[in-house]
Amino acid sequence: MDLSEIKLLRQEFETLLRSTGREGVDDLIDYLDDGKNRFFNAPASVNHHLNTDGGLLQHSLNVCHAALKLRELAIAERPDLEDALSRDSVIIASLLHDICKADIYKPVRKRRKDANGLLVEVDSYDIDYSNFPMGHGEKSAMMVLWGGLDITQEELLAIRWHMTAWDLPYQSLELTRSLNTARDMHPLCSLIQLADNFAANIMEA
Ligand SMILES: [Fe+2]
Ligand SMILES: [Fe+2]
Repeated sequence: MDLSEIKLLRQEFETLLRSTGREGVDDLIDYLDDGKNRFFNAPASVNHHLNTDGGLLQHSLNVCHAALKLRELAIAERPDLEDALSRDSVIIASLLHDICKADIYKPVRKRRKDANGLLVEVDSYDIDYSNFPMGHGEKSAMMVLWGGLDITQEELLAIRWHMTAWDLPYQSLELTRSLNTARDMHPLCSLIQLADNFAANIMEA
């Protein structure tokens, strides 16, 4: 993705986040781009979907677009969920669910075989968790708080548990119960899980 494309995506990301009117949005945007964190330029992965500069930003917007559409479907089916699935909460949880990846990708040159079987050097990334090896969903949730955003409990839980059981330590009964309780209490958790899956496996496949 070139710099002009990334700039447009960043504008959309910032506009959506500011549309919530939530206190601390500007502080959080600065934090996501503070040199150590490279959220706006990072890839979404090394070998899977959107493994290019700006890929993480594109994925976050894809999840937000999917989540806003799923919100309409959910409210059409269950009008009583309109407040629990507020537009602002859907935007905040979807755009910020993967910010844990902002500091893990280091640009490198790697040798790969081209279509003719010849070794060539290409741009790629190494993964380095050493900046803050806290995990995935829980790391995103903590980074939102460190970034200074005024965030609600249900938004934090939707970010924490967006990977569902894939983010559960093996045999941890306490965390299994926490995940199920969060999902039972807050439909936002299920909505973000669904949107993340839809974006990664349908929109970006
Ligand atoms: Fe994730
Ligand atoms: Fe994701």
